[in-house]
Amino acid sequence: MLIDVVIPAAGIGKRMGATIPKQYLMLDDATIIEHTINKFTTLPFVNNIVVVLDKDDAFFSKLKFNIKKIVIAQGGKERADSVLNGLAITTTEFVLVHDAARPLVNKEDIIKLVQEASTDDGGILAVKVADTLKEGGANREIVATRPRDNLYRALTPQYFKRQLLINAYQEANKKGLILTDDASAMELSGFSPKLVLGSSLNIKITEPDDLILARMIIKAQGLN
Ligand code: C5P
Repeated sequence: MLIDVVIPAAGIGKRMGATIPKQYLMLDDATIIEHTINKFTTLPFVNNIVVVLDKDDAFFSKLKFNIKKIVIAQGGKERADSVLNGLAITTTEFVLVHDAARPLVNKEDIIKLVQEASTDDGGILAVKVADTLKEGGANREIVATRPRDNLYRALTPQYFKRQLLINAYQEANKKGLILTDDASAMELSGFSPKLVLGSSLNIKITEPDDLILARMIIKAQGLN
C-alpha cells in the first residue's frame, strides 16, 4: 500500500521569535524541514510528499532534495486550512499528516502507526503525560488539578483515510471550529482514533529552548 504524506509548513513560527520561519532554521547540518522531509523519503511505502507552503515562501525552492516525489500546495490561514489544501492534491487511500516542525520523528514510530491504525478510525502518535497537570485561572492561580492517568500528548504523524479526513475537516469548517490537530476533526465526526505510543523525543520545535534540545538530541543520537 502506498501512502501520501502532507507536511504543513506554512506557519510563521511566531513563538520562535526568529527573523525567518522556524522550519528554515539550521539543525546540525540541514534545515529543520529538510530533516523532517528526509524522514519520509526513504520509507518504501511513501508515495508523494505534499509540502504546504506560505504563498510568499522564499526559502523552500533553494533547498535541494534528491527525490522527485515532492509536490507543493499553498498554505491557508490556520494549520487546518493548510492541511486541507494539501489533502486536496493527495491521491492515496490513506494519508499521513506530519508537522514540518517535528524533525526528530523516528521511522520505526511511523511504521508502527501505519501497522496499527490502518482502519476507518485511524490513529496518531502520542506520549503519556508525565507531569501533574494544573489548570490555571485568570491570574495564573491553580483552579484545578487534572488526573493524568488517561492523558496523552498528541504528536504527529497522524494517519487517516484520506476521504474521511477531508469530510471531517469540511464539517468542522462549516461549524467554524479552529482545530490544532487532525484527530480532533475525526473525533468531531464520531471516530475514535487510536493512540499509538511513540518516542517523546519527537518534540515540536516551537520556542528557542526546543531548538537547543533538538540539537542536543541529534548530537546524542550521532554518538550511538
Ligand atoms: O504553529 P504550530 O507549531 O502548531 O504549527 C504546526 C505546523 O503547522 C507547523 O509545521 C506549521 O508550519 C504548520 N502551519 C501551517 N499553516 C498555518 C499554520 C501552521 O502549515 N496557517
